[in-house]
Amino acid sequence: MIECNNGLFHLKNENLSCLLRVNRYGLLEQIHFGAPVDSEDVKALSCNPGLGWGESLLLNPADTASCPDAMALAWSGSGRGDFRESPVEFDSKSGDLSYVNHRVLEQQPVMESGLPMARGGETLEITMAQKGVKLYLYFTLFDTALTRRAVLVNEGEASLELHKLMSFCLDLPGEYVMTTFDGGWIAEMGKHTTPVGPARVVNESTTGASSNRHNPGFLLSEPDAGEDHGRVYGFNLIYSGNHYASAQRSLQGLTRVMQGISPANFTKNLAPGEKFETPEAVLCCSDEGFGGLSARMHRFVLDRIIPEYWREKERPVLYNSWEGCMFDFNQRKLLDLAKRARDLGCELFVLDDGWFGARDNDRAGLGDYNVNRKKLPEGLEGLSARLGKLGLDFGLWFEPESVNEDSDLYRTHPDWVLHNDGFSDITGRNQLLLDLTKLEVRDYIVENVTRILDSANISYVKWDMNRHSVALGVKAHECILGLYDVLRRIFEPRPHVLLESCSSGGNRFDLGMLCFGPQVWCSDNTDPIQRLTIQGNLSYLYPQSTFGAHVSAAPHAQTLRNTPLTTRGNVAFFGCLGYELDLKHLVSIEIQEIKAQIELYKKYRAVFQFGGFRRLKNGWQVSKDTTVIAGVFHGRMDAAPGYEQLRLKGLDKSKRYLFRTRPQKIRVGQFAGLLKHVAPVDLNPNGSVIRTADKHLGLEDGVELYHVTGAALMSGITLLPLFRGTGYDKNQRTQGDYGSNLYVIEEE
Ligand code: DGJ
Repeated sequence: MIECNNGLFHLKNENLSCLLRVNRYGLLEQIHFGAPVDSEDVKALSCNPGLGWGESLLLNPADTASCPDAMALAWSGSGRGDFRESPVEFDSKSGDLSYVNHRVLEQQPVMESGLPMARGGETLEITMAQKGVKLYLYFTLFDTALTRRAVLVNEGEASLELHKLMSFCLDLPGEYVMTTFDGGWIAEMGKHTTPVGPARVVNESTTGASSNRHNPGFLLSEPDAGEDHGRVYGFNLIYSGNHYASAQRSLQGLTRVMQGISPANFTKNLAPGEKFETPEAVLCCSDEGFGGLSARMHRFVLDRIIPEYWREKERPVLYNSWEGCMFDFNQRKLLDLAKRARDLGCELFVLDDGWFGARDNDRAGLGDYNVNRKKLPEGLEGLSARLGKLGLDFGLWFEPESVNEDSDLYRTHPDWVLHNDGFSDITGRNQLLLDLTKLEVRDYIVENVTRILDSANISYVKWDMNRHSVALGVKAHECILGLYDVLRRIFEPRPHVLLESCSSGGNRFDLGMLCFGPQVWCSDNTDPIQRLTIQGNLSYLYPQSTFGAHVSAAPHAQTLRNTPLTTRGNVAFFGCLGYELDLKHLVSIEIQEIKAQIELYKKYRAVFQFGGFRRLKNGWQVSKDTTVIAGVFHGRMDAAPGYEQLRLKGLDKSKRYLFRTRPQKIRVGQFAGLLKHVAPVDLNPNGSVIRTADKHLGLEDGVELYHVTGAALMSGITLLPLFRGTGYDKNQRTQGDYGSNLYVIEEE
C-alpha cells in the first residue's frame, strides 16, 4: 500500500515501512526504513536537529532545522550545504534538486535502456528538478523488499555531462557494520566486516562485471546483531556490471548509504531531451538478524527476479563434462560417460567447453560456433538424439561474449573486438572480448546461439565468460546493456531452456544475470570445505536454488584436499546438484554412494532447492511443508572431541518429528595401518587386501533415529559421539577430518 498525504509518503506492508517526507525546502527526508510503523508515528521517528550543529549551513537562517548536512535524506546533492557524499554529479553543480510532484503507479515503468527489473510492484514516482534537469526517483514496494532507482533527464538546451548517478541514497540513524563478500577466482564470497565510521567504506567493482572481487550485495547490521536477532539491512543491485556502494557515518550519527553504477571513469553526455536510467537497487530489512534478512532476500529473489517459468520448477540432476574431460573428448567417450551418469541417476548431460571450432585448448576457436566434426561426427543433433535414447536431456556450454585471436571470427572481424582507445589489446585466458555495443556483434551472437539451440534438443545452456573487461565507465555499462539485449533475444522466446550463467565460476553472481536464468555456477572451486564458505556466504543474499553445486573428484583440483564423497554430496545437496568428475574411475563403493545420494536428492529435491534455508552454528538447514533436512559439517578434527549438539530452527514446538540420519559408509582405506589392530591377521596398509576392501566395503557410520518433539529439536539434541581414538563403534560418527552428516526430520 502506498499512502500519500500532504508531502508525506508511506510505502507499507506487513513486513516493512518506508516513510518519506518532503520538507519545506523541497528536500526528500527519509523518516524511516525498516519494520512496519504507522504514518502517525512520523513526528516520533524523524530526526529533530534542535538548535542545530555549530558551523552548519542553514537554508533559512531563521530555522535551525534547515541544515541539509544534518537531515536524514532519501536523496541529496552537492553545493547546497550537505557535505556528505552526493548520489549524483553532473556538470559542476548537482545539489539543487527539489521536489516537484509525485505519482503512484500500479507497477513501475519498463526501462527504455533494457536494464532488467524486478517483476511488478506498486510504485511511487517522485519528481525532483532543478533548472534544466529532472530527476525521477522510483520507490517500488514488494512483499519483503523495497526497490529504488533513478532516472535523470536533461531538460536544458545544452548537453549535460553526467558523472555519477546512484540508484538510491538513504540516511539511517544508528551505528552499523558493513559486511561485504569479496574474493577472486576459486576464492569467491569471502565475508568481510568493517565498522562504518566517519571514514567512507566502499564496495566497488571496476572489472566490467559485477565481479568475484566484490559481490554487489552487501549488509549493514547493528554491531551486536546475530544470526537470529538484531537489525540487519541488505542491499543489492539488479545489475551485472561495475558497481559502487558506500556507507559513512556523520557527526550527527546518520549512516549515509548509497549504491549504483561505479562512477569510476564515468562520463555520460546527455543531449537535450536525453535520459539516463540507473539499475534497480534492492533494499531489505529485518529485525530478526542475518537469518531473518536472508529469508526476506530469498523470497524477493524467488518471487520477483528468477524467470517466472523457473520460479519453483525443480531442476535436473546434471552431469557436466568439464572436470572429467576438459577439451579431450569425442562422441564415444561422451556417450560412455553419459551411460554411466544415467546409471547413477543423472537426468541431464552437459557438454562443456571444446565442442566447436578448433577449440582443443583455451588458445583457439572461441567465436567459431561450428561443431567440431572430428570430435562429434554426428553433430549436436546426433549426440542429443543418442542422449535422448539413453533417457538424458542435453545441455551445452557457450562463451559468446569472447573471442580468441586464433579464430576465424577474429580473422574476419578484428574490428568487432572491444578496445580501449589508445591502448594495445590485452588478453585474459588468451581471449579478447567482443564489443557488445555494436549491433552487428550482438546479431552474430544471437544468430549463432539460436541456430545451435534450435538445431538439436537442447534444454540447458551454460553461458560462460572468462575474463575481465578493459572497457571503462559508460562504455562498460553499454556493454552490459548489449549483453542484456542478447540474453533477452535468445532466452525470452525460449523460456524452457534452463540458463545457468557462469563467469570463471562466480565472477557474475548477481541479480541482473538471475533475471535471465535461474541459476549461476557459484565457483570453479568445488572443494566441499571451500563450498561451505562460498555457498554459505552466498546464502546471505541469494536462495540456494540459484546455486550450481557439483560433486567433483578428491583430492580436489584446486586445494589438493582429500574429502569424503559423503561430504561432497552433503554440501552439494544444498543447491542444484550436479556431478563433474571422470566417472569411469569410480570404484564400487563410490558408485553405491552416488546412487544413494541422487536417490535421496530426488526424493527431497523440492526441499533442498526451494525450502527455507537457515544457517546453523555447525551446518545448514532447509525446510518445506512437513520436512526439514539438516547438514552438519566438520572441518579439521581435534583429538577427543566433546558432545556435539544440533539445534534446529523454525519448527513447531508442539509437534512430533521422526529424526533420522542419512546412512553413510566410511571408507576402510582411511584407517590403513590401524586395521591391523582389529583384524586377526597382520594387514599391510599398502597391500592389496586393504586396497580391495577400500573399493568395495565401508564401515557403517553411526545412525540415529528418534521420535522427538519440535521443542527438543529447537532446544538442541545431542548427536552421537564423534571418533575419539578409542576404537570403532557402530554407534559413533567415525569420520575424521571433513566429515559430515545429513539428517532428515519429518513431521509425524
Ligand atoms: C570456466 C568455467 O567456470 C568452467 O566451469 C568451465 O566451463 C570452463 N570455463 C570452460 O572453459
